[in-house]
Formats: sequence, C-alpha cells, structure tokens
Amino acid sequence: MFLNQKFSKFITNFNYNFERKKILKVLSNEFLEKSFNTISNWKNYNPTPLTNLNKLSKNLNLKNIFYKDESKRFGLKSFKALGGAYAVEIISNNKKDMIVSTATAGNHGKSVAWGAKRLGLKCKIFISEFVSENRANEMKNLGAEVIRIEGNYEKSLEECKKISKNNNWEIIQDVAWPGYELVPKLTMAGYSIMVKEITKQTDKYITHVFLQAGVGGMAAGFIAGIAKYFEYIPKIIIVEPENANCVMKSIENGSLKNIKIEKQSIMGGMSCGEVSLVPWQILKDSVSSCVSVSDEFVSQTIAMLAGKYFSEEKIIGGECSTPGITSLISCCNNEDIKNQLEINQSSNILLIGCEGDADKDLYQKLLDSGKKLI
Ligand SMILES: Cc1ncc(COP(=O)(O)O)c(C=O)c1O
Repeated sequence: MFLNQKFSKFITNFNYNFERKKILKVLSNEFLEKSFNTISNWKNYNPTPLTNLNKLSKNLNLKNIFYKDESKRFGLKSFKALGGAYAVEIISNNKKDMIVSTATAGNHGKSVAWGAKRLGLKCKIFISEFVSENRANEMKNLGAEVIRIEGNYEKSLEECKKISKNNNWEIIQDVAWPGYELVPKLTMAGYSIMVKEITKQTDKYITHVFLQAGVGGMAAGFIAGIAKYFEYIPKIIIVEPENANCVMKSIENGSLKNIKIEKQSIMGGMSCGEVSLVPWQILKDSVSSCVSVSDEFVSQTIAMLAGKYFSEEKIIGGECSTPGITSLISCCNNEDIKNQLEINQSSNILLIGCEGDADKDLYQKLLDSGKKLI
C-alpha cells in the first residue's frame, strides 16, 4: 500500500490548556443541546456513518481508526449541511418574508440555500472567481440566486456585506467579525452534533482527533462537542493546507495572525487566510498540535478511499476529506512526532471525512489521476 505520505510542517501548541468550562462559555451547553434537538428532528435526519478504517489501522499498527463520513449528510455531501441551514432556521424564527444571504467557497452556501428552501425563504449567494460552475449550479438548483464577483473569497464576503446592508438581507455567515458572532456560533453549534452522534456509535474512547480547518469553525464546533460529550479528552490535532495554514501560524504566534494566500489549495473549503474570531477563542488553548500538508497527496488518498485500501467498504471522500488521513499517516512515518503524540497500538484515532463528491467534476478528475498513483 502506498503510505509514503509526509506532512509539510508540524508544530506543538505551547499554550495548550484544555478547559471544558472555558470552551462551554463560548458555546454553552444549552446552545449545543438546542442544535441537536432541532436538527435531529429534521425530516430525513440520520447520523452519518462512523466507518472503521480497519485496513489502515492494521497497516499503521493502531487499535482503531474511525472515519466520520459526512458525504452522507442530508444529501448535501458535507458537514456544512449542519451549520448554515441551522442558522437560517434560528435567525429567521418563522418569518416568511426574510431574504438570507451569504458568501461561500461552496458547501456553506449550499447549506444556507438548502436551509432557505426548506423554510420557503429567498436566498442570495456570493461566490468568488475560484468557485467552480458546478458548485454554483448546485446552489442555483436549490433555488438560490448566485452572484459571482471578481476576486477571492474575502472579496466575495465584502461584496455580500455591502449589498446585503443596502437591501436589508440577513447575512448568514460562518465567519465572525466584531459585532457579528451569533450566526457563526449557531453554525458551530450545528457542527457539534457530529460529536454527539459519535458517542452513540462507539463506546471506545477516542485518544486522538485530527480536525481540518479553514477559518476554524468546524474544528472549534467539534471541540465544543468534545468538551460537552466526551468523557476522555483526546489529543486534538489541527490539519491545514500548507499555503493556508492560518490556525498553525496563529498558534505559533500566540495570537491571531492572518496570512496571504499565494496559491489556492485544491482543498478549496480549507483555503482560508484568516481564523474566525469565535473559533479562535476555543482553538487557541484546546489544540495540542497543528499539521500542514501539501496538495500532493490529495488525489491518491481520494483514490485509496474509493478503492477500499483503508476500509472494507468504498468511501467517497472529496478533497477536504483527505488531509486528516495524510496527517495521520505522516505522523506515523515520523518516529519523534509519533512518540510525542503518543500514537501507538492502543490508539483510537478519529478522522473527519468532511465532504464527499460535493464537486462531482473535480472529484472525478482527482479520482482518475489518483488511481494512477497507487
Ligand atoms: C468542505 C469543507 N469546507 C470547509 C472546511 C473548513 O471548515 P471551517 O472553515 O469551518 O474551518 C472543511 C473542513 O475543514 C471542509 O471539508
């Protein structure tokens, strides 16, 4: 099996100090409970599978590797279905004449569009020049008006804020800025239900969790879930693209640090240069370490997931689902880091398969090229 994967950089968080209480002050118990009670009552709700990557754990000589497969989330094919759509429901609060808006790299916008459709609300989505036409069409198919702007994600968000203000549209954004915290908190609370589901899917205690980050919302929502639902606190390792490692840089710096993205990663949902304010309050001292990875291993990992190299069943994992696997393999390939993280044959590792073939064309392209590499 092709396991010759390497990370780009690894750092330890010297400010590590996991405090449940402090985390649950940012996202309260009630907040987290309400998100689970609401979302688990939606039509067609089902927990996503927790798949055992038994072939990979055998190969790496670890006890268990669990993979939370978000490709099966509400037919939207990513964990993002839990966030934006939930925030739309809470913010609209049964109002039928509200118009919601957002800026997105793809999956968040799809969630907002779907959430608006569920409730019969109009929806306006701003996308950058880097979002594929495929992703735009998926949002249009959910009834949203899609507005493409020139420039990157940050530019699309600026435009969304300006035009929404002029038109009195309600912004449903997954990133926070000063004075705008409730909606990002709602999206993060939505993500936390993945953890609640996992507690019902295995009685093994998780020793290590690898969490992908873009602006940090998923990771921080997940960590809030850990603080609330897990008895044992695992080592938490943040995973980012090497050229969009804003969480790593901020952890290294001890305070928020923005980065300029020189080259967009193929892991589009994670190609972010700024950590969002609310997640940072949680991430800064609950994360044990950070890993960054290049795009080099994305396609082969997609192909190995699909080709049953890791598990008994075929897994459809998109680009953002791969770096957790790559990070784990890379850490196991480095004896010092493996020892430092205490990864060994007693470890129960948790990985997040955060998206499926959310962008079908890109998935197929990566799958085809990845097959040639294994
Ligand atoms: C598809 C997708 N989008 C976005 C993200 C990043 O989420 P966030 O921006 O909340 O950190 C991920 C995973 O980290 C992802 O898989």
